Amino acid sequence: MKIVVINGQAHKGTTHHIAHMLTDALGGEVTEFFLPRDFGAFCIGCAQCIHKDEALCPHAEALAPITAAMDAADVLIFASPVYVYHVTGQMKAFLDHYGWRWIIHRPEPAMFKKQAVVLTTAAGAGMKSAIKDVRDSLFFWGVGRVYTFGIATHADRYTHMTEKKRRQTERAVSKIAAKIKGTEGRVKPALKTRLFFRFYRRVILPHMQASDQTYWAKTGLDRCVPW
Ligand SMILES: Cc1cc2nc3c(=O)[nH]c(=O)nc-3n(C[C@H](O)[C@H](O)[C@H](O)COP(=O)(O)O)c2cc1C
Repeated sequence: MKIVVINGQAHKGTTHHIAHMLTDALGGEVTEFFLPRDFGAFCIGCAQCIHKDEALCPHAEALAPITAAMDAADVLIFASPVYVYHVTGQMKAFLDHYGWRWIIHRPEPAMFKKQAVVLTTAAGAGMKSAIKDVRDSLFFWGVGRVYTFGIATHADRYTHMTEKKRRQTERAVSKIAAKIKGTEGRVKPALKTRLFFRFYRRVILPHMQASDQTYWAKTGLDRCVPW
């Protein structure tokens, strides 16, 4: 099992600790990226990626190794602490660079068979909105299965969390790991994704820009489903 972890922070705190609990439970080959260390650019709004070609993004070269690793992975883990009720700015800036990959433009067919996990930790609150920040992108990327876990730690590090909270975290992590392992190799996207894909293809795609239509034709997405 190939796993890619996108850390929305560059330090190894509670969030990273929990992400590692999950990769340990999963086993397999793990590739990790830390933001902004491994990618820290902000989208400049040229929209060349969306309208023409992602290779025209001024940050394309820096993004390419992360995109390649994610495309080759079976499982994607997005881990971010909650900063002011949302994911970190660097995680958001990273996701901004993939607007072109949304189903409404040029989705990667391999995404529909991947599983992903969104992990967040907060001191007290904001996990739900932070999870949604990533979950929205994963839905529009077409990721087959998405699991989430957020916890209010009430502590400044994992070992300072109460035993009850640590047990809760361990249980949630092993439950997600079991689900991922149980679904490995036979991922079918959720009904919402399948319906959205078909609706978009039939109703919206005929009205989209040429670059998107050409892509759907070239990849066969206009004729077949990628799951
Ligand atoms: C800039 C900043 C903003 C934060 N915003 C929130 C917040 O909105 N809600 C919250 O409960 N905790 C907030 N926190 C606390 C962290 O989310 C929390 O301590 C988290 O578990 C840290 O994870 P880490 O150890 O992986 O860095 C914030 C921390 C920082 C540094």
